[in-house]
Amino acid sequence: MIGLRMPLALVALLASAAAAGPAETVSADASPVETRQRLMVAMIRATKVPRAMVRGDRDFDAEAIDAAMTQVIKAGRQMPDLFADPGAAGPTATLPAAWDNLAEFTAAFATLEREALGLAEAARQGPEAMALAYQRYEAVCDGCHMRYRKDD
Ligand code: HEC
Repeated sequence: MIGLRMPLALVALLASAAAAGPAETVSADASPVETRQRLMVAMIRATKVPRAMVRGDRDFDAEAIDAAMTQVIKAGRQMPDLFADPGAAGPTATLPAAWDNLAEFTAAFATLEREALGLAEAARQGPEAMALAYQRYEAVCDGCHMRYRKDD
């Protein structure tokens, strides 16, 4: 599915999967709970980039989407470890169902990565393809939150 015209930032990211640094600097003493919440916030910030374009609030810009999806993928790759311990300290909005279905829960981050790549790819084809891919991408966030995150 990944074509030859893969965006540059993503090429760099995939080529250096192990070397790719975290999306944000994670302080050594931050708890896994705080760190995953902070990375989720980084994901929503990045998600607002294509969302604003879909809504017509921002000019279409495939490079900006590429950069945003790179951030989402970097954050997503750190998530499984940060959810591994059900007893990690700190107030959490994660439902126990996440740990009861940990394999499925964790797999959703891989799905998110696939859809984030798909969104960046679609953006190379233009705004219509991007808007369609955005729906699929956002559905991964929403689907996981509906099943595994407490309502506010
Ligand atoms: C595999 C499941 C899963 C996926 C996929 C996922 N989330 Fe989350 N998200 C959670 C869970 C669980 C929490 C609650 C974290 C906690 O408090 O322990 C959360 C919390 C959040 C929060 C609140 C963070 C805070 O300040 O406490 C935001 C914002 C968020 N997610 C955005 C996103 C966005 C945007 C996406 C998609 C790009 C996404 N999430 C994808 C499971 C997921």
